[in-house]
Amino acid sequence: HQRVFSGMQPTSTLHLGNYLGALTNWVAMQETHECIYCVVDMHAITVWQDPADLTRAIREVTAAYVAAGIDTKKSIIFNQSQVHQHAELAWVFNCVARLGWLNRMTQFKEKAGKDKENASIGLYAYPALMAADILLYKATHVPVGEDQKQHLELARDIAQKFNNDFGVQIEQRGLATGNLGFFPQPEPMIQGPAPRVMSLRDGTKKMSKSDASDNSRINLTDDAETIAQKIRKAKTDPDALPSEEKGLEGRPEAENLVGIYAGLNGQTKAQVLGQFGGGQFSGFKAALVDLAVEKLSPIAGEMRRLLDDVGHIDAILGDGAQRAQAIAAPIMRDVKDIVGFVRPR
Ligand code: TYM
Repeated sequence: HQRVFSGMQPTSTLHLGNYLGALTNWVAMQETHECIYCVVDMHAITVWQDPADLTRAIREVTAAYVAAGIDTKKSIIFNQSQVHQHAELAWVFNCVARLGWLNRMTQFKEKAGKDKENASIGLYAYPALMAADILLYKATHVPVGEDQKQHLELARDIAQKFNNDFGVQIEQRGLATGNLGFFPQPEPMIQGPAPRVMSLRDGTKKMSKSDASDNSRINLTDDAETIAQKIRKAKTDPDALPSEEKGLEGRPEAENLVGIYAGLNGQTKAQVLGQFGGGQFSGFKAALVDLAVEKLSPIAGEMRRLLDDVGHIDAILGDGAQRAQAIAAPIMRDVKDIVGFVRPR
């Protein structure tokens, strides 16, 4: 049985990297898989969040999921904190994961910066909570952008160590799935022509919500004029576009814009170069502005419409949490039995 799980942090407005690296792939997977999409509010508070801003961001990310095409009839949308089993399994995983494993996480090093002594314990333990998100549903496939690859490897290590440490108990209780153990090995799905969207100001830096320059990213809520200005200002090099993909090597800005065009238009980079190769950036950028506005404006409009009715958004999250919990509760019950906790009977 194949089950998809993925999530985004409600820390600020979503940007084109979130959209092309993850969200568009999530929408596509609904046709073939059972999908669970989470707004990971517990991950968000690993760094300080103003409470009112957090509440707003949870609803905004929920609206973005729906506006981008996640269908709540087919898929589950919920926020993490409403399903308490995430915290419970995360604690068990804190006790399975090794300090040495977490010490290797590059995202912690980036986010904690120089003042590591002052980072929250939650930021350090973040990847164990992420493993719990996925494995609480025994999810097999996890569509994410490339920056989450290392976290997914850690989730696989945690699943394997749990299966080994408690192999006897899993066997005795008949809770193994075939010879795979209790937890599956979740597969990262890093897909599409834009698994790593780069900053519009610097093709060697990831597009990110933490970049000080708003011109470095396109936000899902940007209006048409803002999108146009940001693309026109985007850094490029002086050469014409190549007609083949290998001509993009060593040209990070060109590669990024071609990847963005391909992602927005559901094409490959080769197809985009087939059309625009040999031409100047000015013409290509004009086409990219039209395409970006055509694809993103309806999403922004739909988000605004949805956010006018906060009650409806909260109802989506409440319903999703119930459906998520129906899957999570029996799995968490098994985990407690396996570990040896005593539960009410
Ligand atoms: P987050 O909130 O940073 O990002 C959400 C998703 O967007 C992708 N992404 C990008 N893809 C391409 N180019 C970019 N510039 C770019 N920036 C972000 C991310 O790869 C991600 O897929 N730890 C996760 C959230 C999480 C999660 C999970 C994901 C918590 N639990 C369980 C999957 C499964 C995060 O911080 O994503």
